[in-house]
This record gives sequence, C-alpha cells and structure tokens, in this order.
Amino acid sequence: MKEYKFSYLELENDNELGQQDKLLLSKAREVTSHAYAPYSNFFVGSAALLSNKKIITATNQENASFPVGICAERVLLSAISSLYDNVAIDTIAISYNNKKSSKSDHPVAPCGICRQSLIEFENRFNHPIRLLLSGMEGKVIIIESASQLLPFHFSSKDM
Ligand code: THU
Repeated sequence: MKEYKFSYLELENDNELGQQDKLLLSKAREVTSHAYAPYSNFFVGSAALLSNKKIITATNQENASFPVGICAERVLLSAISSLYDNVAIDTIAISYNNKKSSKSDHPVAPCGICRQSLIEFENRFNHPIRLLLSGMEGKVIIIESASQLLPFHFSSKDM
C-alpha cells in the first residue's frame, strides 16, 4: 500500500505570521470588498507576492449565468500572467467575507479547478507557490506548495 501525506502549519491567528505574510493576508482581506459576488454573497480576495516583490490582488467575479463566474484565484493568475513575463509567484494569500454569515473566521481552501490552475503556474516557473489561507479573522493555514492539495494531478508531463 502506498500513502500520500503532507504537512501544513496551522496558526491561531495572523499575529503569529512574519511581517511579509501578515501584509499579504491583510491585502487579501482588504480586497474582498472589491469582489463582484451578488449571487453567492461570498466575497473572496486573493493577494500574490511575486518573485519581483510586487503584490497583485484579485477577487471573484460572478455572472447571472452562474458557470461564467470566476474564482479569485484564477482571476489573480490570469492578471499576473498578463502583466508580467517570466515572474514566478512566491506566496498567495486567500481570504473571504461570507456576507450570509456573521462570521468568516476559518480558513477555506481553493476549489479543484483553481488547484489545477495553481499547479500549472508552479510547473511553468518550476517554483512552488506557498498558500496562506484564512478568513477575515481566526486561524491561518500555511501550505508550502499548491501541488500538495491535488495529488495525482494532471500535467504536461502526462501528455
Ligand atoms: N470562490 C472563489 O473565488 N475561490 C474559492 O476558492 C472558492 C469559491 C468563489 C466562487 C463563487 O463566486 C463564490 O466563491 C461562491 O462559490
């Protein structure tokens, strides 16, 4: 029998983060207010620290035709890829404000399609993307590489 295991860090709150990670998470939380999410009322914000030290942010963008909507993570990756050639992503912070609930206090992880998109970016630049996951408050999860979230993922090596 083979086994798949990975380790991640869970912090009680953002006070335990280093200065750079704390700033990135605060940007992700801040931009949740720019999300266009009138259908789900689930406002997602993402912020990436690039290898050129720039920070880029993005949010989810919904549509009356529901499947047309795009998650904050994929809006972010498309923006970065369109803005810069050859710049890897070091870390992405992801937060959300669930306006249907009084609290957004636990980390949520990227959906399956976004995991696949994140891995494409990792492979393209041969560089792991660290993920910081947290709500508007509370616990923070740190994952060292997006690929850890999608075992047996499909990649160009399979083609
Ligand atoms: N959403 C994201 O933007 N990122 C995720 O990781 C999960 C879900 C969005 C999609 C949709 O606009 C709303 O959250 C509810 O699913």
